[in-house]
Formats: sequence, C-alpha cells, structure tokens
Amino acid sequence: MSQLDRMRAMAHPIFILYKLCCLIVVFIITLLIILIVVNTNTVRPSCSIKNFYVPALNRLDNSNASTINNFIFFDLELKNRLDQISVRYDTINLTFFYGPKPSLPIGYYTVRGFYQGKKKGAQRRDVVETHGVPWFDAVNAVSNGSTVVFRLELATKVKFKEWFFMSKKRNLAVSATVEINNSGKKVQKKAIKLTSGIQAPAQTQAQAQAQAHPGKAAI
Ligand SMILES: *[C@@H]1O[C@H](CO)[C@@H](O)[C@H](O)[C@H]1NC(C)=O
Ligand SMILES: *[C@@H]1O[C@H](CO)[C@@H](O)[C@H](O)[C@H]1NC(C)=O
Ligand SMILES: *[C@@H]1O[C@H](CO)[C@@H](O)[C@H](O)[C@H]1NC(C)=O
Ligand SMILES: *[C@@H]1O[C@H](CO)[C@@H](O)[C@H](O)[C@H]1NC(C)=O
Repeated sequence: MSQLDRMRAMAHPIFILYKLCCLIVVFIITLLIILIVVNTNTVRPSCSIKNFYVPALNRLDNSNASTINNFIFFDLELKNRLDQISVRYDTINLTFFYGPKPSLPIGYYTVRGFYQGKKKGAQRRDVVETHGVPWFDAVNAVSNGSTVVFRLELATKVKFKEWFFMSKKRNLAVSATVEINNSGKKVQKKAIKLTSGIQAPAQTQAQAQAQAHPGKAAI
C-alpha cells in the first residue's frame, strides 16, 4: 500500500509534466503554423481607383478656359481582405503616366506608410500636379469625342502581421489604365482595380496570345 502511494506520488508530477509538455508542443506547433501562414500568405491588398478627374479635359464647363489646369484629382482605395492578418504598408509611390504605356511620366505622389487592420479599407484622396502632359493633343482628342488614357502605377512594400509575427517585406507593384472623356472623368463608372503584371495594350493582345500559345499561332 505504501509502495503504491509512493508510485502514485511519483507518477503524479510526471503526469503533470507530461501534460505540460503536451501543451507546450501544441503551443509551439500553433506558433509555427501562424508563422508559416504569415510568411506564405499570397493574398495582396487590393488597390483600386475610385475616382480620377482631369479638370483640363472637362470641356463641358471649361470650354473657354485659356489656362490649363495642371492638376489631377484621384481617389484611391486600399483594402485588406484578410480576416486574420493585418498589413503594414511602406511609403507608397504613385506614378502617373500619359498614355497607356509607362513611357511618359507626368506626375509623382507618395502616400505615407500606414498600418491596416484585418478586413479594413483605406481611402487616399488627393491632387497631383502634372508636368509635360501634351494638353493640346489631349484636349483635341476629347473635344473630338475620343478618349485619353492615363496610367497609374503603384509601388510599395508590405508586411503581414498575425498576432505578434511579422512576415518579411513583400513588393507590391500594381497598375491600371484610366480612360478619360470630355467630362474630365473616367469613362468606366465602376472602380478600376490595379493589377500586377504588364497589361498588354489592345492591339498587342493577339501577339501576347500568340506567344503564349505558339502552336495555335503557327496555324
Ligand atoms: C469665352 O471667352 C470670351 C472672351 O473672354 C467671352 O467673350 C465668351 O463669352 C466666353 N465664352 C464662354 C462660353 O464662356
Ligand atoms: C479632331 O477633329 C479635327 C477635325 O475633324 C481634326 O482636324 C483633328 O485632327 C482631330 N483631332 C484629333 C486629336 O483627333
Ligand atoms: C519609392 O520611391 C523612393 C524614392 O524614389 C524609393 O527610394 C523607393 O525605393 C520607392 N519604393 C518602391 C517600393 O519602389
Ligand atoms: C463621359 O464619361 C462619363 C462617366 O462615365 C459619362 O457619364 C459621360 O456620358 C461620358 N461622356 C461622353 C460624351 O461619352
């Protein structure tokens, strides 16, 4: 009996230790899973242009303006769609271009870095001063009923955070083209999503397809 008691006394702390070890192992595994999730997360914040206004191209109530307004008004939305992970943005570089290709930069703007919680959205609305826009051609084009295209490129680095784990900095580089008509506003009513990768202009899409499917192109 006394021997059994001694055994029990021995077994008891060992059992506690065993339970403790199990808890620690579960805890460590949980931390590792969070760490892996944070670092392998491929979902990027979504960026879109809600508004884009070029007053110089508004020929509806500006038809007599002798001086060109060099400013572009923009309204950008940055959304974190993740419900477990928050995002830390570095300084965001915005580059505005005239035309669909990034060949004629006309304006730069930086948005201060910020922190964005889970499932949160942020809006940045401001004005950028442009330089070197061929306004004469642009005004001519919209006056004739055609549209003028601008391009916006966004570049920053983001870090993802879950609990107290931070991922490494990841590049976020997205862009979009915006079509403007004689109202000075974007033709597309809906917000324009900025996407990564080079968007092939319409006339070269066929070529891009031919490159992607050389077999078909040969026919
Ligand atoms: C345009 O400007 C001229 C000279 O300043 C003026 O006579 C004319 O009424 C203006 N037209 C409009 C539509 O504002
Ligand atoms: C606009 O139309 C006028 C007259 O038809 C033409 O001379 C001019 O080149 C056109 N401008 C553009 C940008 O298409
Ligand atoms: C943003 O612009 C600054 C200044 O030109 C540059 O140092 C930085 O590397 C740029 N950031 C990104 C993500 O391109
Ligand atoms: C220009 O675009 C705006 C916004 O989409 C639209 O309301 C307007 O009708 C367009 N104007 C012309 C002349 O197409």
